[in-house]
Formats: sequence, C-alpha cells, structure tokens
Amino acid sequence: MAELSLPFESRYFPLKKFLNMYQRSMEEPEEFWAEQARQLDWFKTWDSVLEWEPPFARWFVGGRLNASHICVDRHAKTWRRSKVAIYWEGEPGDIRVLSYSTLYREVNRYASVLKNCGVGDGDKVALYLPMIPELPIFMLACARIGAIHTVIFSGFSAQALADRVNDVQAKLLVTADGGFRRGKIIPLKSIADEALTKCPSVEKVIVVKRTDSPVTVKTPKESWLHDLLESAAQFVEPEPVESNHPLYILYTSGTTGKPKGVVHSTGGYLVQNYSAYKWVFDLREESVYWCTADVGWVTGHSSIVYAPLAHGAAMVLYEGAPDYPTIERWWDIIEKYGVSVFYTSPTAIRMFMGYGEEMLNKHDLSSLELLGSVGEPINPEAWLWFYQHVGGERCPIVDTWWQTETGGIMISPSPGIECVPLKPGSATLPLPGVEADVVGEDGKTVPPERRGFLVIKKPWPGMLLGIHGAPERYKEAYWSRFPGVYYTGDYAVRDKDGYFWVLGRADEVLKVAGHRIGTAELEDAAVSHPQVAEAAVVGKEDPVKGESIVIFARLKKGVDPSPELKKDLAGHMRRMVGPIAVPDEVHFVAELPKTRSGKIMRRVLKAVANNTSIGDLTTLEDKSSVDEIVKAYQEFREVKGKEE
Ligand code: WTA
Repeated sequence: MAELSLPFESRYFPLKKFLNMYQRSMEEPEEFWAEQARQLDWFKTWDSVLEWEPPFARWFVGGRLNASHICVDRHAKTWRRSKVAIYWEGEPGDIRVLSYSTLYREVNRYASVLKNCGVGDGDKVALYLPMIPELPIFMLACARIGAIHTVIFSGFSAQALADRVNDVQAKLLVTADGGFRRGKIIPLKSIADEALTKCPSVEKVIVVKRTDSPVTVKTPKESWLHDLLESAAQFVEPEPVESNHPLYILYTSGTTGKPKGVVHSTGGYLVQNYSAYKWVFDLREESVYWCTADVGWVTGHSSIVYAPLAHGAAMVLYEGAPDYPTIERWWDIIEKYGVSVFYTSPTAIRMFMGYGEEMLNKHDLSSLELLGSVGEPINPEAWLWFYQHVGGERCPIVDTWWQTETGGIMISPSPGIECVPLKPGSATLPLPGVEADVVGEDGKTVPPERRGFLVIKKPWPGMLLGIHGAPERYKEAYWSRFPGVYYTGDYAVRDKDGYFWVLGRADEVLKVAGHRIGTAELEDAAVSHPQVAEAAVVGKEDPVKGESIVIFARLKKGVDPSPELKKDLAGHMRRMVGPIAVPDEVHFVAELPKTRSGKIMRRVLKAVANNTSIGDLTTLEDKSSVDEIVKAYQEFREVKGKEE
C-alpha cells in the first residue's frame, strides 16, 4: 500500500471504514474504480478499466455512455421525474423550478435545436451565458448529441471570448441578450458581437432572451432560442459515446499568456465526480444542495451540473451577486429553499465575516447539515467563523482541494464514508483512489511539517485527457517537473498526522477571489496598452480576496506617468480580459528589476508589494532599480496608510 502514514489510531477513533477503502483503492485501483463505475448506467461496459501510457490515461476504454442520459434520463424514468432538479433564482427575484421531467424535456428540445443548427458529434459549441437554467440545459444538450461544450465565463471580455472561441474552433455560439449582475445588465450579446468579428469558425449564433434589452439578431446566421424551439423535436436519442469522448473543454490559466483548453472525458470524469460527491457531500435523496460557484469555472461544471444531477439531487442555482440587493441575499436563499449542503469559497466567507453575524441571526439556517469550501486556501479564522456562525457548530466543513485539471475533488474530508477529525485550514486526506504526496525539488517526499510541492502519483479517472491541440504543453506543464508524477503547481505541507495543508500556488498563477488567472496573461494584456513598454504582474496578499493584482509597468519614452494613465490602464485590463483582471494597484517605474540575462525578477516585486524580505539579489543586473522601487513603494504605503 502507498504510504499514507496515519498514526491516528492512537490519537483519534480508528477510521476503519475510510482506511480500509483507501487501502483497497491503492492496492487494487482498477477493481476499485470499476466498482464505482458500475454505479452509473452504461450502454456498453468497458473492455479495459485503464490504459495508462504515461502521461496519457484512458479510463473505461470501449465503454459507452451518455452524460445527459446519466444526469437526466435515468431520473426522469423513475419517481424522481417529479423531484426538483433545479431551484433557480434570478437576481431580480424571478424564480423557476425545474423538475427532472421538465429538465429531461428541455434537454431533448435543446438537443434538437442544436442538431437543426447543424451541430453533430464532435463539434464544439461555445456557451457564453449568465447563470440561468439555459446554461446547464445547453451543456447537457451538447452532451446528448456528442457535441463538446466550452463554457466561457460571462465575466470575460470580447477579446478573451474570441481567444477561447478561436482556440477551440467553435462552430456555434450560444449567448443571451444580457445577464443581471448587481442590478445592472451585462450586455453579453454586444460583447459577443465584438468578439465574433474575429471568430471565423462560428457558423451560427443562438441568443437566449433573458433581460429584454434591445439587441440585434442578424438572421440567418443568428436566431433567438425561443424561435428555434418552436420547431424542436420532443425527443433526441442520446448518442452512446465512447468513455474517452471529450465531454467538454474548459479554458484555464497557466504560466504562459495563452490559456489552456483542458479536455475532460465523459466516462472517467463522471465516475470521478459521482464518487467524490457521494463521499464528500454525503448527498442523499432529501438533500438540497447549493454550490455558489459560477458555471463558467470547473467548480460550476462538476459541482453545479454533472455531479449533483448524476446523483438526482435537488440543487439551487442563483444568477446574481452574493450581496445584492443586500447582504441578506444568500441567507435568504438558504432559508427559502431549505439548503442542506452549502458549498462556497473562502473569499465569500471572508467578505461576509466583515459584515458581522447579525445578517445570519435574522434567518433560519437550521436546514444546513454540511458546509464546503473550495478554490483557495481557507484561513482558520474564516473556517471557524463559517463553522460557528453559519453552521451553528453542527455542520462539518469539507475543505475540498482540486483543480480544473483534476476534474473532481481530490483531497477532502469524506463524511459520506466516515468523517475524519477536522482541522481548520486543512483539506485533511486524499479521497480513495488518489495517491497524493508532498515532494521537494528532488522529487522525494519531504518530512512532515516541511513545505514542498503537491503531486499526484497515480492516474485517476477524472484526470484531464490533455490540453486541446497541445499535447507537448500538457506533458511540459504537468509531467516534466517530476517525471512520472502529476505536478499540481501548488505548495503544500503534510503534518504529523498525514493531513494535507495546501498553501497556494508555487507558480505564476494567481487566485484572485478564487478566480484563477495567470500573471503572464495579465502582463500580455498590460503591454498591449499603447503607452506601456514593459510590465510585471504580481499577487499581493489580500485579507478578503486571498490575492490581489499589482502591476509594475515601465512606460514608453516621454509618456507622463499620471494618475489618469493608471485608471486608463485599469480600464484597458477590463476591456482585454474582464473585470477579474482589474488591478488593485498600478505602479509606474523607471526600470523593472532584471537578471543579467534580461528576465524580469517578479520575486523581487512580489516581495516589495507584500513587504517581505527581498532575499538574494546577486543575479540582479542593476540594483539601483530595486532601491528606487522600494523607496517609491514605501512612500505609497505611507500615503495609503494615512488615507485609511
Ligand atoms: C487552489 C478550482 C487550497 C489551488 C476547483 C489549485 C485550493 C487551484 C483549494 C485550482 C483548497 C483549490 N485549498 N487551495 N481547498 N481548492 N485550490 O483550476 O491553488 O480554478 O491549484 O479549480 O485552486 O484552481 P481551479
């Protein structure tokens, strides 16, 4: 058995059930995963459980299934047909409740619309939609006909949308006339119009009516969804796809300027998620589950759409901002729908902490049974606040570590099996089937309590199939740093009880309010500003958002480093990437610190912004540049301190 080193027989209760299951999953991984896979409906069973040609894993090879059949049809054929699938609430307060039979009917009709638009098996469909039921319905409709969806977060700008649509070569784009956010309308169709001028692969555009805002729908290329639905069939046969047929491609940030299209399979991905959500959230028939993530990120894919629906769970989908129109909104939703499992981000918890507990005391939160956290490290203070005030000291917290690439939860307490003793701030132990470790630069396991790199040593079913169109980049990004093992890009520590504490990214990737964004992408956007010559982006610790964006930029010769230009650069970042890229600080500098070979020393800038030790500067080309930046930054800090 792989070394789990859990000396807690002597410290805690025996955890027999969890440890036995974990041990079995390590000793007989294929039998173990086959057992899990049998809990889903397959049109044809697999010929082999795993074909592992490192670093490419193919699970349940030869097996045939369909994700929409698993998430919808099999429930619509049982008593669950009248069970609620989705409680949806729009930001303005409008409500839609979809039963499994309604969802089934809609998925079929949307699949028919897609087919009538010429979309077929293997075609790519881009979904640029707000958090409305049409989004999961379109995802499932794509899956039904074997089309591959790529959801693009509705907060992305025209440029970011175009980059993703072009990389994936989408044939069809679905968008809406707008979406509500903080009382305003996000003009998705106009943003899409701008993007589409640069997207030659898109043959057809479907527009969902959401806000009733005036938009132009240019026929015959563009159509309103409601018009297309008029001639839609009531039933479309689900395509029995091979297990490794891509279910979706989702773009995420890495260490270069170009986002990576992470490709997920159908069979392995669903098996991973079905299992993980049973173990972690202990989903039961009567559970009402709410994950507050946006469907535009992986958390939304797995935790809003595929895992809960595969379980036939009732879930909540909410369109808008957490604190709109007031900070009562989320607590009101929990009370109204009787949410029992509530899954959110540390940033949201910290934001609400800042408002105090009064807003909670006004609501009956007694339906809550289990709380979850995801997306970034949760600090013990936030964990305890969540536990005491939201969960009333009754609900275990599952701190779930995972990534876009892992497809599903990897390290987390698993009360659905047996709840391990919790420690605030630790994701505790790997789930069964997941062999995680913390290694040093040399790839060897580091001793307890020492920081190292988090790695995964065995393939798992939800593992990405690869990066769209870039097999070399896939090898390089995940499998080259430590040959033979998957490199997560995260720092972690294991304590003496074998518990994992994930500390944050070890690479040039930021987590701003839980959103994953690469510094290289941000730098590309910054230098595309006509007055910027060079830029370096670093993350600064932020008490609420975890990290915030700081830009150090050198301007082109003769440009005045005015405060207006700072604002203009911030606006430019918003236009190039979206609101998530807007910096908290912009600093204009005469020179950026560089090594003799010309590489920008971001480490130095990060230390300056975070007021930590700058460390070794022997490789620096010109020390005076750093002295100047340090001095200017100190002045900035003093002015800011006085303002606050
Ligand atoms: C971070 C989100 C600490 C981590 C599902 C990872 C976490 C990155 C946790 C992936 C957690 C996610 N504790 N850090 N419980 N969960 N992370 O792809 O840095 O948006 O590598 O997937 O989020 O972000 P992504």
